[in-house]
Amino acid sequence: MKRTVDDLAWFGGPPAFAQPMVVGRPNTGDRARLYKRLDGALDSGWLTHCGPLVREFEQQVAEVAGVRHCVATCNATIALSLLVQAAGLTGEVIMPAMTYVATPHSMRYPGLRPVFCDIDPVTGCIDPDQVEALVTARTSAIIGVHLWGQACDVPRLAEIARRRGLALFFDAAQGVGCTFGDRPIGGFGQAEVFSFHATKVVNAFEGGAVVTDDDDFAERVRAAHNFGRRADGGIGSVGTNAKMTEGSAAMGLTSLEALPESVAQNRVRYDMYRAALADIPGIEVHRYDERHRNNHQYLVVKVDAAVTGLHRDALLDLLVAENVMAQCYFSPGCHQLEPYVTESPVSLPMTERLAGQVLALPTGPSVSGADVSAIADLIRFAVRQGPLVQSRTTRTLVTAVG
Ligand SMILES: Cc1ncc(COP(=O)(O)O)c(C=O)c1O
Repeated sequence: MKRTVDDLAWFGGPPAFAQPMVVGRPNTGDRARLYKRLDGALDSGWLTHCGPLVREFEQQVAEVAGVRHCVATCNATIALSLLVQAAGLTGEVIMPAMTYVATPHSMRYPGLRPVFCDIDPVTGCIDPDQVEALVTARTSAIIGVHLWGQACDVPRLAEIARRRGLALFFDAAQGVGCTFGDRPIGGFGQAEVFSFHATKVVNAFEGGAVVTDDDDFAERVRAAHNFGRRADGGIGSVGTNAKMTEGSAAMGLTSLEALPESVAQNRVRYDMYRAALADIPGIEVHRYDERHRNNHQYLVVKVDAAVTGLHRDALLDLLVAENVMAQCYFSPGCHQLEPYVTESPVSLPMTERLAGQVLALPTGPSVSGADVSAIADLIRFAVRQGPLVQSRTTRTLVTAVG
């Protein structure tokens, strides 16, 4: 319990948590089942090349997404890049900057130019009202990002894409197990891309997937992810090696079995955080639109520095010193990162505002109710002591308010 500013770990006090509390601790599921799957793969000697575990994982992911096809990959970044070849994308691709840098990099790496669009200030997802003004003769696609598992405004983006003759894809890296209304994320646009990175709600160590209802498109993605190999085994085009391994599929299947339980546990923590932080002025737990189901993988709070007197970065520093390893998902916006900030500087006021406020806190099955209370107490204490904390440091606190 902190009584004075000197008790804060930032100023030399003992940290509130003996061990780091991380955001995105892996959801591993039942370890015995994982080992059984790994044993089976090792015994069979079939460790990669679209083996039985990958096929089973693809089938189950397609079911979760409510689509006919899933091509499992080694990660989501490569899966996004596969869309370029499979859809014949060229020129420019419109996307939000409020995303992980993998979204623009996945297009820039194969030579396309990401064009950043501002966001809806409420959800943080791409603002359809601002998309059309960015369409040029060079635009070939729109990529929406289901930020924190919240579905983009799918119908409006679909309408714009159809009317302007553009391809539409979704970066659903954070959207496994989420819905738009009662339709699962995964079935929108020409294809969607999931991530199964170790920190995601379903973990395959590293992994990704392209999910789609388009038969021909799925075939092209499948070929592109395996050196351009056709179903008959011949090489029909250029391609890369983006295959998922059997080890990753074993982990993915085991983690996927635990998905309903993981989501339920995340939801409990979300409600706990909302209750525990409700009385702190300037701290708001991001609200998810209850018309859509969320996996609650991300517990996002917004720090209004004008009210708290403490900038998000200062609060982050204080929390990290206490072993609460909060993360800024996503800050700064990708338009302010290299090479984009140098190549095509652009101002995105809503993105910059939100990116300056967000803080993701530890959540998930490994975070107890007592942990949530302790983290809320820390934030409450830091905000109450905000001006005093500021007067004691020359770091971000002094300059960052406002
Ligand atoms: C929105 C978004 N897109 C893409 C990615 C990249 O996923 P992966 O790590 O599987 O390549 C991530 C992962 O952090 C993400 O959050």
